[in-house]
Order: sequence, then structure tokens, then C-alpha cells
Amino acid sequence: LPTAQSVYDSFLRCLTQQTKSPTQLKNIVFSQTNPSFSSVLQNYIRNSRLNTTSTLKPLIIVTPLQESHVQGAVICAKSIGIQIKIRSGGHDYEGLSYISDKPFIILDLFNLNSVSVDIKKQTAVIQAGATLGEVYYRIWEKSKVHGFPAGVCSTVGVGGHISGAGYGNMLRKHGLSVDNVIDAQIVDVKGRLLDRKCMGEDLFWAIRGGGGASFGVVLSYTIKLVPVPETVTVFRVMKTLEENATDLVVEWQKVAPTTDDRLFMRLLLQPVSSRKVKGAKTIRASVVALFLGRVDEVVSLMGKEFPTLGLKKEDCNETSWIRSVIWWDDEDAFNKGAKPETLLDRKLNSAIFGKRKSDYVQKPISRDGLEGIWKKMIEQGKVGFVFNPYGGKMAQIASDATPFPHRAGNLFKMQYSVNWNDPSVSAAQNFLSEAKELYSYMTPFVSQNPRSAYLNYRDLDIGINHFGANSFKEGQVYGAKYFNNNFDRLVKIKAAVDSENFFTNEQSIPVKI
Ligand code: FDA
Repeated sequence: LPTAQSVYDSFLRCLTQQTKSPTQLKNIVFSQTNPSFSSVLQNYIRNSRLNTTSTLKPLIIVTPLQESHVQGAVICAKSIGIQIKIRSGGHDYEGLSYISDKPFIILDLFNLNSVSVDIKKQTAVIQAGATLGEVYYRIWEKSKVHGFPAGVCSTVGVGGHISGAGYGNMLRKHGLSVDNVIDAQIVDVKGRLLDRKCMGEDLFWAIRGGGGASFGVVLSYTIKLVPVPETVTVFRVMKTLEENATDLVVEWQKVAPTTDDRLFMRLLLQPVSSRKVKGAKTIRASVVALFLGRVDEVVSLMGKEFPTLGLKKEDCNETSWIRSVIWWDDEDAFNKGAKPETLLDRKLNSAIFGKRKSDYVQKPISRDGLEGIWKKMIEQGKVGFVFNPYGGKMAQIASDATPFPHRAGNLFKMQYSVNWNDPSVSAAQNFLSEAKELYSYMTPFVSQNPRSAYLNYRDLDIGINHFGANSFKEGQVYGAKYFNNNFDRLVKIKAAVDSENFFTNEQSIPVKI
């Protein structure tokens, strides 16, 4: 195996030859002995589960300041034969941007974070290392009636999020982030910097939901802004089982995917202590919503379509779109009057322990079915669900328009979610096995053949690639779940742009041998 020092020496020598400004390199190539190595590594680790003393660390971290550094890094990593892990915001739920089981280097793009908004054209060029908070803030600086339909957590990175088909609370009105991408820049395996025209429509298709890391290093996306009203409405309504949460969920399944497409009602389901019966647990159902319109209209709409919700004016906040972004990101900060600048906070080094899984629901779950699920969740006590309704624009876009296939026919996506603070191995084992057990329990209620999953809710339980003789078969297992019938086209594109399979990760698109 190469030593960290020998890799560092060869890499730096190579990069010095590749670049026009070699003096900068000392500040952007971090060896394991560099005093800043640990903080640079940890700043963008978001899941402590993947940062234990036994986790293999990268041999070097490279933090490019300009495009040519990325080009040089790809050429040099390839020439010395070492794996690259690409990191933008570090939010991968399995840490695939910063861990590996073989010697590797991290290409960390956090410095490449410019966001250039052109209001006349209603577009923006956003670099991969920008956070969603930065994107929303820079749009808001230029216009109070434009936004972008991407994720609800401000620290998520553009590079992983958009290449994995990122979605947010405007998906029923405007589709996914990738439905609003019109150009991109990528560095390919030969170190070439390509835009849409140069990369061609196949590769441009692949990096809008197929996961960038199988194909190259995405440097930027050009996005089309979407119109947002000057005033929008947000609300949260909570009910426990004692307050007829089951009725609420039965009705939610009918209304949330079919109602006015300006309304996105997320449903959170969590086992909590009962306030009525001491020592007992119950399920709390919370409807958390964004309406792209005024309060009176949404209260009247819900009165007609979703009476069980019991929505009142007092439950709602009318606000600007940018403040609604803050509300979704951090309700406490919103209530304290946080300014849009808060979206620029990158919250470095703020990891927690967590695990996520995903499923798609295509037929409403019956009342009996729900009651069985509540029982299971209460028995376990910790794993919760987030249901995200589809319909609207999502159902109007063809399932092969982008690699993300989960369009018409899906009522909602489920996220299994569990976070914890206990650093012990046994705590992790316990929560991971509970999440698996609940996933197994849910089999009769969710999509089958394939049992679909969302790439950005990365889950290594659904399959992993060892890149041996069975690599293609292994890839088909997770590939069919994430991409359904789009997997074959991704395989063809992979073969065309990276036939030697340089860009790999535990769930990358395999090369057919
Ligand atoms: P990270 O840097 O970890 O990258 C993720 C993957 O993309 C890795 O495989 C990485 O190698 C690859 N990659 C990253 N940058 C690349 C580049 N420039 N070129 C090529 N490949 C690249 N999702 C969602 O759709 N809606 C949401 O609202 C949320 N909310 C949310 C909240 C929180 C707290 C977390 C932790 C996660 C989410 N997500 C989400 C999931 C999120 O979209 C997903 O984890 C993204 O891949 C994260 O992108 P980052 O760049 O931050 O991750």
C-alpha cells in the first residue's frame, strides 16, 4: 500500500507540473501531518457515525480554489492510481464523500462556492461547493419574487444535492431541482472542463439525478429561477393518536398528493411520550407545510379538502419566501426573527449520529395498516418517518426525463429517520438494526419490483459494490432501486465517459465487463 507521505509527494509533484500558480498549492493540499488536516476533514463531516477512530482517513485532502486545480487533481489522482472522493457539502447519509475502505484522497470543493444570479435572464450559475442557503440568499439579494425548488436544509451542498436530483418544498409546483437545470460544467476523467454543449446530452442527462460522482467532478450548474409570490404561508399542525392522528394520516394520504400544487404538506411521524397516560408512548403526526399564497386561501382550501386537519388562521404564518426558507430550516430561529443572512452560516463541524432509509408508497395505507405501523414504531421507540407528498408537477414529468424515475404513480416518498447522541458502538448497532427491522415490516405497504429508493437518501443496506467479478450484478441491485428503468442508460453513459471506471464509490454506476 502507498504511504500517506509518498502519495502526498507524488501528488504534489504532479500538481505542480499541472498548474500555472504552483505557489498556491501549499495552501490547498493537506497531508495527514498538516496541523489543519483534522479540522479541514471534520468541518464538512455531518454524520458522526462515519467518523470513528476506526474510520479510514484520506491520505490527502485537496481544496481547489479554481477550476484548473480540479482538472489537475483528477489528472494527478488518475496518474498515481488513487481513488478520489468528491465532497461538496458533506451531507451524504453514508458519508460516501469522505470515507472509503481503500486508500483515497478527498477533493473538497467548499471554496468553489460562487453564486451568480442574472435576474434579467432569470438564471443563476451556482458552483458545486455553494450551500443551498447561499443559493437562496443570493437569489433573494437580487429579487424578492424569485426562488429555486431545492432542499430545505441550508447547509446541504449543491454538488451532491443536485447531481442526486435534490427536491424541496416547491416540488409539487415546480418539480425537482434537476427539472430546472439548463447547463452544467464538469471535469471529466481526462481532466477536460466541459459544458453542456461539449459534454453532450447524454452526460448532461446523467448528472441531473444519476449521482455526479460516477461520471466526473461537477463544477457548477446553471439553474432556471422560478417565480415565488411576495407573500407565502407556512404552518405546522400536530396531533397525537389520542387526538385522532390516525384519521389525520388516512385523510392526508388522499389530500396531500392531489391538492392545489402550490401546497406542500410534509407529514412527520414520531414515537413520543404520551401526555395523557403516564409512562405510555404515542405517535405524534405533524403536518408541516408551505403554501405559495395567502393564509385566507389555504385555510379555506383546507376547510373544504382536509377538515380533519382543523387548520386555523392562528396556526399559520404569512411571510416572505426567504423567511419561509428560514422557518423550514430552523423554526426557532424564524420565531426569534432571524435575518436572511443566517442562511449563510455553514455550521461547520456540527455532526450528529444518524441513519436514513427510503421507500415509495403507491397505494394509500389502510387504517389497519397504519395501526400496525404505530404499534411497531412504539415498540421500537425511536425511528420516525417523514412522508413527502408527490403529485402536481412531479406527475407531469416523464420518468425518463432525468435519471430520477419516481414520478407519476407515486403518492409519496417515505424517509426513515433516526438520530442519536450516544457514541457507543452498541447504540449505533441498536438503531441501525431497528431501522432495518422497520424497513422489513413496511414491505407490504411500499413499491415492489423494484422496491424503489431515493439516491439522495443514501442507504448502503440496499446494496454495495465491491468492484470484483460481480461488479455489474452488484450495481444492478442498488441501481434498479434508485433508477428503475433508467439504470441501463446510466450504464451506457458510464461506459462512454469513464470506461476504465476511475470515478467509483460504494454505489457508483458500474461498468459492464
Ligand atoms: P456530499 O458532499 O456528501 O456528496 C454527496 C454525494 O455526491 C457523494 O457521493 C459525493 O461524492 C457526490 N458529490 C458531491 N459533490 C460532487 C461534485 N461536485 N461532483 C460529483 N459528485 C459530487 N435531500 C433532498 O433532496 N432534500 C432535502 O431537503 C434534504 N435535506 C437534507 C438535510 C440534511 C440535514 C441532510 C444531512 C441531507 C439532506 N438531504 C436532502 C440529502 C442531500 O440532498 C444529499 O445528502 C446530498 O447528496 C448532499 O449533497 P452534499 O454536496 O452536501 O453532500
